[in-house]
Amino acid sequence: MNNPTRKKTPEQLRSYRWYGVNDLRSFGHRSRTAQMGYHSSDYMGKPVIAIVNTWSEINSCHTHFKARVEEVKRGIWQAGGFPVEMPVMTLAEPFQKPTTMLYRNFLAMETEELLRSYPFDGCVLMGGCDKTTPGLLMGALSMDLPAIYVPAGPMLRGNWNGRTLGSGSDTWKYWAELRAGNITEEEWQGIESGIARSPGHCMTMGTASTMTSAAEALGFTLPGFSSIPAADSRHAQFASLTGQRIVEMVWQDLKPSDFLTAKSFDNAITTVLAMSGSTNAIVHLIAVARRAGIPLTTSRFDELARVTPVLGNLRPAGSYLMEDFFYAGGLRGLLAELGDLIDGSQMTVNGSTIGENIKGAEIYNDDVIRKLDNPLVARDGLAVLTGNLAPDGAVIKPAAMEQHLLTHRGPAVVFKDYNDMAARIDDPELPVTAESVIVLQHAGPIGAPGMPEWGQLPIPQKLLKEGVRDMVRISDARMSGTSYGACVLHVAPESFVGGPLALVKDGDIIELDVPGRRLHLAVSDDELAARKAAWQPPKRIFERGYGVIHQLHVTQADKGCDFDFLEEPQAQADEARESGEPEIH
Ligand code: FES
Repeated sequence: MNNPTRKKTPEQLRSYRWYGVNDLRSFGHRSRTAQMGYHSSDYMGKPVIAIVNTWSEINSCHTHFKARVEEVKRGIWQAGGFPVEMPVMTLAEPFQKPTTMLYRNFLAMETEELLRSYPFDGCVLMGGCDKTTPGLLMGALSMDLPAIYVPAGPMLRGNWNGRTLGSGSDTWKYWAELRAGNITEEEWQGIESGIARSPGHCMTMGTASTMTSAAEALGFTLPGFSSIPAADSRHAQFASLTGQRIVEMVWQDLKPSDFLTAKSFDNAITTVLAMSGSTNAIVHLIAVARRAGIPLTTSRFDELARVTPVLGNLRPAGSYLMEDFFYAGGLRGLLAELGDLIDGSQMTVNGSTIGENIKGAEIYNDDVIRKLDNPLVARDGLAVLTGNLAPDGAVIKPAAMEQHLLTHRGPAVVFKDYNDMAARIDDPELPVTAESVIVLQHAGPIGAPGMPEWGQLPIPQKLLKEGVRDMVRISDARMSGTSYGACVLHVAPESFVGGPLALVKDGDIIELDVPGRRLHLAVSDDELAARKAAWQPPKRIFERGYGVIHQLHVTQADKGCDFDFLEEPQAQADEARESGEPEIH
């Protein structure tokens, strides 16, 4: 061991317990590695690195991961490690029903258990499409091996008839225009073929861009990596550098528990707020933090929102896309501009502090990344509401809604579930006006199931035709980060478990007061108590399989929707399981 930065000898590697000892079991490990074509000099005494890859042929955001994984391997080999690709649950946002959120914890469990049960010393996590980032981080945190993240990178700007298109945001926008009769079917099809035209995740400030940026701010990526478009050759270069770095991290024994602190999470939250990131970050960051043993609550998001300006002029709150953001200086530029709002002393995977990593970063277009003296929005990128309709909180994104709705009072139009809404929302006889408050029940973590991104409830067609483009909408669902509107989300506790949202009836007056952080159902306590007494719990949804685990153990939105039995950190790998031995073959 000549390198003074090394804290481990080859004999102290975790993989040595599989490969290095001289017994019958390790004979099997070595002979079966030889079966795969490797000589003992390929792996003996070297860090064995799991490349946890969410690639699949149905994950359109990760199509380049088939090539990227080879670049990660190249870096691992160069640095003297032994790479092992491990395919995991793919979580392809546009395809998986009812929602990838149902399976985020599945990915987290799979990641943790793969890392535990195989001879790995460290891991490279490859994700980007929405839930893959939190799922991978949660699993890796619970195992607490050295871990580094490869963010998929945003796709290039969409393009149609000379116009720039943004993922999700323009889908909603032009869908509304189609329903209002303002564009033709032919134009709609042109949008379909031009809105996603390269590898990479959604290039608006949706959940993917939000969470990969948060991962970088937490310290999990090489500096600047999260902003690089997937199609840019520098993305491939960073993948290789990431492979090199994880080998060093293993020798240095640099684990997530060595660099993650409550301040790291403040940095991640501030980053999300400064980019007007997705509301989904609240659920995910709380879940990730709890895996790290760091208590994080929704109120911290609200506290930081009150002092954090929105500097990222990115859709849906702003005008630009992630490709523009990269050219304008990327996340390093934005973090540098945030100054003291970021705690620069926090450590990151490259062994330097975040302050050192952003030193000298510049902004090359100050309309895309605004300066502190010219923010897109001065504060309140997100707001956490409470009141008798949401005793454990609810969330709204004030920057992405029509401002006249920040304080609003109107009668409820209630849909008991998604199918009810789909069947009646466009009924010309529906008694709804622009003043109404649309309420969707049974769309939460258990009830939907999986808390789908239904929260941007559709505007009734008859109001669209009148020119209405925003109105107050309330649900216990989430909302895609690419969506916009006066949508109150994450109402907790959810209606399926008897939260007050379940008790709302047509015509009840609902009061929204975003500056006052209040969501109130103007119904007397006695009447609400009577409704609660008459409320019947709905039938459970799942009778078998993973769904049963989900419905019995998923926590509410304010707790991060993790499984209750996984929340606590498990810094010590489960020695009982790890000491078990595989069969001899
Ligand atoms: Fe994958 Fe949006 S569909 S990030």
